[in-house]
Amino acid sequence: MSETSPAIEVRNLVKTYGRITAVNQVSFSVARGEIIGFLGPNGAGKSTTMRILTGYLPATSGTALVCGLSVASQADAVKRCIGYMPENNPLPEDMRVSEYLFYRGRLKNLARGRLSARLDDVLELCDLKRVRHRIIGTLSKGFRQRVGIAEAVLAEPPVIIMDEPTIGLDPHQIQLVRELIGQLRGRMAVIISSHILPEIELTCDRALIINQGRIVAAGTPAQLRREVIGRSRYELELAGDAAALPALLAAVDPALTVSPGAGPDASGFHHLILSTPREDDLGEALLGALAADGRFRLRSLSRTQPSLEEVFLAATRRSWDTVDNAAGRK
Ligand SMILES: Nc1ncnc2c1ncn2[C@@H]1O[C@H](COP(=O)(O)OP(=O)(O)O)[C@@H](O)[C@H]1O
Ligand SMILES: [Mg+2]
Repeated sequence: MSETSPAIEVRNLVKTYGRITAVNQVSFSVARGEIIGFLGPNGAGKSTTMRILTGYLPATSGTALVCGLSVASQADAVKRCIGYMPENNPLPEDMRVSEYLFYRGRLKNLARGRLSARLDDVLELCDLKRVRHRIIGTLSKGFRQRVGIAEAVLAEPPVIIMDEPTIGLDPHQIQLVRELIGQLRGRMAVIISSHILPEIELTCDRALIINQGRIVAAGTPAQLRREVIGRSRYELELAGDAAALPALLAAVDPALTVSPGAGPDASGFHHLILSTPREDDLGEALLGALAADGRFRLRSLSRTQPSLEEVFLAATRRSWDTVDNAAGRK
């Protein structure tokens, strides 16, 4: 295993099931210690990509390297580099938590002495100390999920792959899992998949948005916003002479467009959304212009970020348009 190679390097990966192309020319890389989110609707190809990376499923074509090792020709070595928590991770119902983790650690070739110290660490990390002697079958979903994560990180592999680690959890449990993944930052490269956007945004350094087997956008949440939405947005609550507004806004930035939100409310205030491709903050200029004009009363003004949800919808829509255009040109 080379220490300098990226944790994961995927080039032109393709997986077909009969006539279905589940993964279509996917390329990306993950640096050591980096946390990456796979974001995509059901059927996007997230689990298939993860199964290929973990050596459990052969690719149809393309290459995938984990810590410099080929998943196709060095699958056993690759498996030792990865802690994998599959989708709907099955756990033995009748084993106790510490017993199960001990058994998994032995399978991962951890020496007994090192294993018992490591068990204490992961039980602590995953907040499982209280339930270490409990039978897994009697645990709640949140605890089971954390047993799965404990198992994945047990042997301290350089790469962790978790397929939908927070599915079926309540908000409190999601928070715990998120914190847990955050603690791995810088220590292990982590890929998690999710169709829940705030989760990716809060946990990951970078997101890959996947739709229909293709990566349709990639980057940090800020980069994705800039690249996919490309506009700044301001929300304001305003009362006054609506007819005078366009000229006033044009003086601040001719590219500003207004879309009416709600209103007017009982006090006569409208909720408006302004948007512009300009990236510098127009808040001060807007406040100044509205105050100087004197015909408006302003109750609030804020610059708002598009949610990752909007980014995701825009990126997937854009990918559909590309497909439609390509089909139309034939
Ligand atoms: N074993 C399989 N046989 C046939 N089609 C499959 C199989 N596994 C997945 N697929 C198809 O591949 C596509 C991607 O699935 P999957 O990777 O599970 O997506 P995701 O995890 O993003 O929900 C879907 O269209 C799915 O129906
Ligand atoms: Mg899946």
